[in-house]
Amino acid sequence: MRRYQERVDAALARFLPPTEQTPTQLHDAMHYAVLGGGKRIRPVLAYATAECLGANLDDVDAAACALELIHCYSLVHDDLPSMDNDDLRRGRPTCHKVYGDAMALLAGDALQCFAIEILSKGDYNEAQSSARLKMIATISSASGSTGMAGGQAIDLAAVGQHLTIEQLEQMHRLKTGALIEASITVGALAANCDAASMKPLQDYAQCIGLAFQIRDDLLDIEADTETLGKPQGSDQEQDKPTYPSLLGLSGAKNMAQQMHDHALRALQPLGDDVDPLRLLSSYIVERTH
Ligand code: IPE
Ligand code: IPE
Ligand code: MG
Ligand code: MG
Ligand code: MG
Repeated sequence: MRRYQERVDAALARFLPPTEQTPTQLHDAMHYAVLGGGKRIRPVLAYATAECLGANLDDVDAAACALELIHCYSLVHDDLPSMDNDDLRRGRPTCHKVYGDAMALLAGDALQCFAIEILSKGDYNEAQSSARLKMIATISSASGSTGMAGGQAIDLAAVGQHLTIEQLEQMHRLKTGALIEASITVGALAANCDAASMKPLQDYAQCIGLAFQIRDDLLDIEADTETLGKPQGSDQEQDKPTYPSLLGLSGAKNMAQQMHDHALRALQPLGDDVDPLRLLSSYIVERTH
């Protein structure tokens, strides 16, 4: 993970407009939201998938950055007073606490467009251009109303409500699962993956995408604010339906474990080449922050 984290950090720092560039406050807010923290799990998944399938990592940098930029924008907006109203993120005050709500909104907006900009620009060759187009389609549909933003809308509407387990699963699949699935898909696209390998990878991705948010919900209860770098107990405080609130702690842990087992089963046809993806699935259900 560290190798991929360092790689995406360097690429992000290279791509982002310099903070000296006008409007400096907006560029400052964008840097603040993106650099300095974060597990970078979406880029890690994209790089790992691509490398397992034999791709050149130079062909993954733009997509890895785009995924992280969209994710960072989603966190900036998620923390706003009109959404989860959280003051701490990645161990620091949230973007709106430092730059104000309006600038945080704009930083999110700008990061979202910038993700697509870097994916569509750059000097890639003819052969890569069809993969790039598919990456843009994949990342944008995973981010909009049929993906992350759609899931966030369901999340807001669900505050104080009772959801069925099916409704909760759909919310998690959209708000978090979709972008995680997209991470694996873009890694596979960079490697020109054929349809026969794409199917098991997508099944794997769906399982770990759901497991990732179940773990996030568990950590909101079981971890502490310092380890998390974000306020512990935020879900309970806002009466959000979560896996632990519906199934209890051990029910939610079982569900995450089941998703991990399914993910491993899905990868079976791909053999040893995808061992790093097996390890990443373990990491997702065991992580402590
Ligand atoms: C937190 O995501 C929000 C969710 C979608 C669950 P991460 O746990 O990936 O947050 P960072 O990027 O490591 O801070
Ligand atoms: C966030 O879910 C999903 C996003 C799309 C950002 P949460 O609201 O549970 O994420 P955290 O716990 O604040 O990181
Ligand atoms: Mg939220
Ligand atoms: Mg939140
Ligand atoms: Mg959470």
